[in-house]
Amino acid sequence: MDAHAAPVAVQYLRTLFKGPIIAAGGFDRKSAEAIVAEGHADMVAFGRHFISNPDLPRRLREDLPLNAYDRNSFYGGDERGYTDYPFASVSQK
Ligand SMILES: Cc1cc2nc3c(=O)[nH]c(=O)nc-3n(C[C@H](O)[C@H](O)[C@H](O)COP(=O)(O)O)c2cc1C
Repeated sequence: MDAHAAPVAVQYLRTLFKGPIIAAGGFDRKSAEAIVAEGHADMVAFGRHFISNPDLPRRLREDLPLNAYDRNSFYGGDERGYTDYPFASVSQK
């Protein structure tokens, strides 16, 4: 789908589906705010950034930098890559 097709697809979807639309896939703070502001989605879900940022809501709210995610630990078998990413320090800005 090219960039011009996306809004058309969203409008088509909107006429068929009356409920809230949650967009997901490759969003960051800026693009998430933009798609909601443009009315193409009601909410945005985060996957990979949530895995590497246990305090993602705070980081987005305060516009703090995000921890990079490590693809090698996705779908891993233990706590590595799931519970060991650091929280932002209290004073981090
Ligand atoms: C390691 C990993 C596990 C995931 N597990 C699920 C899952 O159990 N159910 C689900 O609906 N999506 C799952 N997803 C997909 C995410 O919810 C999300 O749709 C996807 O990662 C795209 O968003 P992102 O670009 O913010 O990561 C998973 C993604 C990753 C990277």
